[in-house]
Amino acid sequence: MAPPVRPRVLVTRQLPGEALGRLGSHVELRVWEEELPPPRETLLELVRGVDGLISLLTDRVDGPLLAAAPSLRAVSNVAVGYDNIDVSACTARRIPVGNTPGVLTETSADFAFALLMGLARRVAEADAYVRAGQWRTWSPTLLLGSDIHGATLGLVGLGQIGTAVARRARGFGMRVLYVSRHARPELEAELGLRRVDKATLLAESDFISLHVPLNAETRHWLGRAELAAMKPGAMVINTARGPVVDQAALVEALSQGKLGGAALDVTDPEPLPVDSPLLKLPNVLIAPHIASASHATRGRMASMAVDNLLAALEGRRPPHCVNPELFA
Ligand code: GLV
Repeated sequence: MAPPVRPRVLVTRQLPGEALGRLGSHVELRVWEEELPPPRETLLELVRGVDGLISLLTDRVDGPLLAAAPSLRAVSNVAVGYDNIDVSACTARRIPVGNTPGVLTETSADFAFALLMGLARRVAEADAYVRAGQWRTWSPTLLLGSDIHGATLGLVGLGQIGTAVARRARGFGMRVLYVSRHARPELEAELGLRRVDKATLLAESDFISLHVPLNAETRHWLGRAELAAMKPGAMVINTARGPVVDQAALVEALSQGKLGGAALDVTDPEPLPVDSPLLKLPNVLIAPHIASASHATRGRMASMAVDNLLAALEGRRPPHCVNPELFA
């Protein structure tokens, strides 16, 4: 008797940890091994004939990709965000889409806080100063920054990562405000947070940290008008998605000295072009989209993505599914 045909799966990059080894014992696996993502045309060729796709946030999974992959029946994104995926198009084709919430919450919150502290206390500038041989004496006026303790943090979004940042902020003696579609009275009581409207958050926060998914409602949430309404000298921390901030307006506000600075793990576009005006500004701290990048967390994300994919290929609801209505 012929052995059962194993599903064909494409993974668009090498992933850390054991997960791909485990996946390989269940499916016929093809891994794109290059450092850079497959170019669009190549990706459209690679998905032809596959049953499952493990995608990254650098891969656009949209109508044309689905059309190029008539046998595709499972998509699993190695990220909590899934704005790279046209979920309605997948749902219309009855393709479950998985994501990786939860496992990256604390790691991402750690990094948002690292950016906040690094920006406020000018850590990258200090390091560059020492390396450039400029450290000649202790000086009472050298590299003065902003205090974190006692400052007001405004959180945009109070999901899992926003909440984890709020816990850190309370530990550092900050006052914490938030805006969210949903009131979270239990968290307000537990952590001493205050839900406010957008105008109050903008006017009162010394730091604004973004923790919302990118969608039509949140695109340019922090635009020219909002930046103008921020407290003079306030700072922006973005670990969500680049387009949640109007980057041209941000550059303008920073260049005019209205803001104290910005720390960005995400930009628009990514990667940020090396000639971006952002990179000419001293009070900007930029990282290459690494908030969830710890060894342990990236391994867990890969493992969760494999679990999601295998479940969907077997016709089960993925443990973390963004279109669960397919299984209702
Ligand atoms: C990373 O940005 C993610 O969405 O997991």
